[in-house]
Amino acid sequence: MLNVIIFGPPGSGKGTQSEKIIAKFGLAHISTGDILRAEIKAESKLGKEAAQFINRGELVPDATIIGMLENKLNGLTDAKGVIFDGFPRTVAQAEALKEMLQKRGEDISVMLNLEVNREELISRLLKRGETSGRSDDNLETIEKRIKVYEEQTSPVIGFYKTEGTYKGIKGVGTIDEIFDRISNAIEE
Ligand code: AP5
Ligand code: MG
Repeated sequence: MLNVIIFGPPGSGKGTQSEKIIAKFGLAHISTGDILRAEIKAESKLGKEAAQFINRGELVPDATIIGMLENKLNGLTDAKGVIFDGFPRTVAQAEALKEMLQKRGEDISVMLNLEVNREELISRLLKRGETSGRSDDNLETIEKRIKVYEEQTSPVIGFYKTEGTYKGIKGVGTIDEIFDRISNAIEE
């Protein structure tokens, strides 16, 4: 099993690179952001709860996310492995993921951290906001998402450094250049 975490701040290219990783390595994609946006669209109870947080650029509570993730993971059969995109986002989520995988006799193969500077993140997300229709792609919410990332999510880096699965990836350049760096890191 090849289980990969694609990590990084908002706009660092997690979704973009996930698509390429899936195409090359045949992994199943679990994006907690995509799942939550689908729930909002479906106007489900979970979607209604999550929308409050997403619109403010805050994290959806751990218990909600961990339950949702476990459901999704249990629904996967005969996958070669999983790419986790936008999860884990807190140390509590990282610990829960470790436990969930252990129960299945699996672990995380590699955690890839896309390193992108703040100016580039803001410029990418403002540009995407012109067409994405995402309620959180406006300057005020983008700045909040980056702050939440720095305060609540960046400690996850230390967790995977301790686990010995951490790899930093320079996340600036063309999409193909970055994908080459990622491919090399996965194949190592
Ligand atoms: P989520 O959907 O995960 O959003 P995010 O982390 O803010 O990141 P984005 O999806 O905006 O960016 P990305 O890194 O995927 O970059 P992308 O490839 O799109 O989460 C949204 C919200 O849901 C959270 O704020 C939270 O409320 C909630 N949530 C989700 N997961 C949660 C969890 N685990 N716990 C709690 N709450 C959770 O690229 C961005 C743009 O840049 C695109 O337009 C792309 O075309 C462009 N681009 C990509 N690569 C390049 C490049 N190399 N050069 C130039 N442009 C590029
Ligand atoms: Mg994304």
